[in-house]
Amino acid sequence: MIDQLSFPDDTDRVDGVAKVTGKARYFAEFDLPGLSYAVLVTSTITRGRITRINTRSAGNAPGVLAVVSHVNRPETPGYEAENAPAMRIFYTDQVFFNGQPVAMVVADTFERATYAASLVEVSYEKEAFNTDFEHSLDKIKKPKNPAQGQYRRGVEDAYKTAPVKVEATYTLPIETHNPMELHGIVAFWNAADKLTVYAKTQGVKSTQSSLARTFGLPPENVQVYSEYVGGGFGMGLRTWPLEIASVMAAKLTGKPVKLVLTRDQMFTMVGNRPAAWQQIGLGASENGKLVGITHHSLAQSSVYEDFMENITGMSKFMYGCPNVNTTSAIVPLDMSVPIWMRGPGEATGAFALESAVDELAFKLNMDPLDFRILNDPDTDMEKNRPFSDKNVKEAYRRGAEAIGWKNRSQQPAKLSQGDWLLGYGVSTGVFGAFRRSATVKAVFSSDGTLVLQSAASDIGPGTGTGMVRIASGVTGIPAEKITFELGDSSLPPAPSQGGSATLSTVGAAVNDVCVQLISNLKELAVNSGLKADAAFTDILKKNNLPFVEVTKESKGGAEQGKYSMYSFSIHFVQVKVHKRTGVVKVNKIVSVGDAGKIVSPKTARSQMVGGAVGGLGMALTEEAIIDHRYGRYVNNNFGDYHVPVNADIPDIDVIFIDKPDPHINPMGAKGMGEIALIGFSAAVANAVFNATGKRIRSLPITPDKVLEQPQV
Ligand code: MOS
Repeated sequence: MIDQLSFPDDTDRVDGVAKVTGKARYFAEFDLPGLSYAVLVTSTITRGRITRINTRSAGNAPGVLAVVSHVNRPETPGYEAENAPAMRIFYTDQVFFNGQPVAMVVADTFERATYAASLVEVSYEKEAFNTDFEHSLDKIKKPKNPAQGQYRRGVEDAYKTAPVKVEATYTLPIETHNPMELHGIVAFWNAADKLTVYAKTQGVKSTQSSLARTFGLPPENVQVYSEYVGGGFGMGLRTWPLEIASVMAAKLTGKPVKLVLTRDQMFTMVGNRPAAWQQIGLGASENGKLVGITHHSLAQSSVYEDFMENITGMSKFMYGCPNVNTTSAIVPLDMSVPIWMRGPGEATGAFALESAVDELAFKLNMDPLDFRILNDPDTDMEKNRPFSDKNVKEAYRRGAEAIGWKNRSQQPAKLSQGDWLLGYGVSTGVFGAFRRSATVKAVFSSDGTLVLQSAASDIGPGTGTGMVRIASGVTGIPAEKITFELGDSSLPPAPSQGGSATLSTVGAAVNDVCVQLISNLKELAVNSGLKADAAFTDILKKNNLPFVEVTKESKGGAEQGKYSMYSFSIHFVQVKVHKRTGVVKVNKIVSVGDAGKIVSPKTARSQMVGGAVGGLGMALTEEAIIDHRYGRYVNNNFGDYHVPVNADIPDIDVIFIDKPDPHINPMGAKGMGEIALIGFSAAVANAVFNATGKRIRSLPITPDKVLEQPQV
């Protein structure tokens, strides 16, 4: 199948012009007739009960249409169901975290809603609470499924018996997704049992089913639109209480209701990457062969709902090692529940593992690149299967050349430039390469245009562009005559955009539907006395057809059980560290992606660049800080929660191996959204060590830590 694809040279982002000219409409821009505005009132205590809620003055304020709370919420049959979510908004008087919505005010303007919200008086009965992850590592909750996160192959803690070993603890703070676009929703009831929403979601079908479940509606009675999304990074993978609240308010007022969160509410209402603590033990023989890997992880969760991600995954298969054991557990806190964030689990785990690998290589007096190459396995020792495709040795080599690895000094703190010390670092990233099930409809019209439809999402990676390129590659129809429609729950089903699986999954369905379309057209040609290779438009003309259409479902098969499928990334950085202030600057980045065939070079490169920027933030600046006396965030704004800005970002060189994976899907293409970030923070930490001889095991690597840390 791969041979028949001939891609156009490159394609600009198909919706790029719409996005930069403001033609693209995001959820908050749907200005429906009678639109009213919602503002949330949030709890000022961290744990306890609402004893009294006085909404009289708020209700009487100018322009106010309704005040919704647990006292008067409309029917939500899903809340009574056995599998109802633990945190049911406006359901009881219970408060689970600081900043939890306790009421919603709806008014005819945003300003009036904001004012009225300030008039809602809430009295509480406070209870003792705990938001302090760092000091709660003994308050562990084992996962519901006891096997989750627990793994052993060979001898437990074998690293301890190895001649050369390292044992270290690594920590990460809370990080928040905080895409530019604020979260929210526009909701209105077209009829008593029919709901339409403009959402900010990574899955229109999952939003549809979760709203249908909560309000006891047949799914087809819930219409979800989310054509453009201004970034998600994982926070759009579930329907949050604030969205349910807005739908309730729309029901109560009989009007379309719009809610847009404030920036500070983005810290408490839409999840975060959980703070984590990890302990790694690595042992090797004198010649650098790994003998044992031990990896323990603890991560923050909430008291009302468990969230646990796969932090130790990479340690089980990335390196060839006969003895591996891992454990994982969570620490429930009186905070809002975390959610997957770009490179979920693996990004956290890779920081620890890839830092520890660097530490071990240093102890062995080995180049960390040589150590990785020596321990690169030919098969997946966890699943006991061959990899479907893996080219990391080539990736190490090409990245090393591009960053100038030969200029690195094996001894730290040897290179300098004026007041700055220079260092090089490398790390590896990996994430599962998935292919799920998706359905695509193709409509080819007599004017030569092809329209493809699927209820997929595009939170930024360039999904439409990739799909158009696949369709063009299969059909030979020029890209500018092809449109890919997404973000509408009434289109044929596609999975949520998560886990770097959209290009593989929906792309395969695009491939398959286009193959079917061509075969149908050829048959039509032959049956109407034309040659099989007649122009598609001639075939339609000859048959007096304005259009032909095909719908096809596509999913992976037995190959998924035969091969171990992963995308890989190798990140190289050169950093400089100021000798007196401890400031770290990244001078140069080379990210190598080994993710199969690159279907859309321009948007793929952008993915890798975006991941490197996110990784740089994770490494050097990002940290959500809580005042544990009050259980509240203290830096819940973009002035104090530091994300990288243009001045922080150096040249980023992106290299792709660009070899089709022969097994995953017809294009041979694997996802790269997650690998773009996974491992990056360790490359920076390793480079800081190389520059200074100081090993920083706690992110972010801020100047105070660099100054305080002693040299090895
Ligand atoms: Mo991603 S964390 O699967 O949006």
